[in-house]
Amino acid sequence: MQHRAPGARDQWYEGLFYKTVIAPFLQEVRGIIRDMVAPGSAVLDAGCGTGDLAIMLASKCNRVVGVERSARMIEVARNSSASPGQDGSPLHQAQVPRQVEFVHRDIVDYLNHANERFDHVVFSFSLHEMEPATRAGLVSKAGAIARDVIIADFNMPGWDNAWGVVNTVTEALSNLTHFSRYIDFINRGGIPALVRQAGMRVVEQRADSSKRLSITRAVF
Ligand SMILES: C[S@@+](CC[C@H](N)C(=O)[O-])C[C@H]1O[C@@H](n2cnc3c(N)ncnc32)[C@H](O)[C@@H]1O
Repeated sequence: MQHRAPGARDQWYEGLFYKTVIAPFLQEVRGIIRDMVAPGSAVLDAGCGTGDLAIMLASKCNRVVGVERSARMIEVARNSSASPGQDGSPLHQAQVPRQVEFVHRDIVDYLNHANERFDHVVFSFSLHEMEPATRAGLVSKAGAIARDVIIADFNMPGWDNAWGVVNTVTEALSNLTHFSRYIDFINRGGIPALVRQAGMRVVEQRADSSKRLSITRAVF
């Protein structure tokens, strides 16, 4: 029987839909995150989804732990037969890099009990899904167990390009709680406001070519 992490509610788009329709739009952002992490580092990927970023980082990092609360997402991550390998060929489960570990758990619980240090904790499009009152505390906890925290997320919603349409429609069709959290994240000032609330400061900030997505590195 499949284990479901506490608080997990699978959304209709999680799993293969996310991997095939949404994730391809994130390749540029993933490349920027990969540039930001140090060679040979240990990375915690908080809310790793289908695991594409974790697998991409494995070619540069010594250890990548992807934590995910959705049963469907973690199943796709662990059985990533549709993931392209470094050479673009299909990657089968046995080929998931040995540096990568996928953990089916709520990141709040994981960070509350973390006994391992990382060089980087990455939140890639996961913070806007989380309970608003817990976001800054989570970033701060992440900062306490790492050299820095890398956050990739939206800085504005929009309709004037393919990514904006697919994303806004997907967020809107998810469920009311999910959509209101996404809007709330934007309205509260997005990543810069969150970094300030966590008591941290921004040391590097980049955007994708659409300027809708921000990638920020923050430290205490
Ligand atoms: C929009 S997806 C992004 C997935 C992936 N990081 C990426 O960049 O493609 C957000 C993910 O965060 C996960 N998530 C949200 N809240 C979480 C929590 N409290 N603990 C663990 N995962 C969480 C969701 O289940 C979802 O898979």
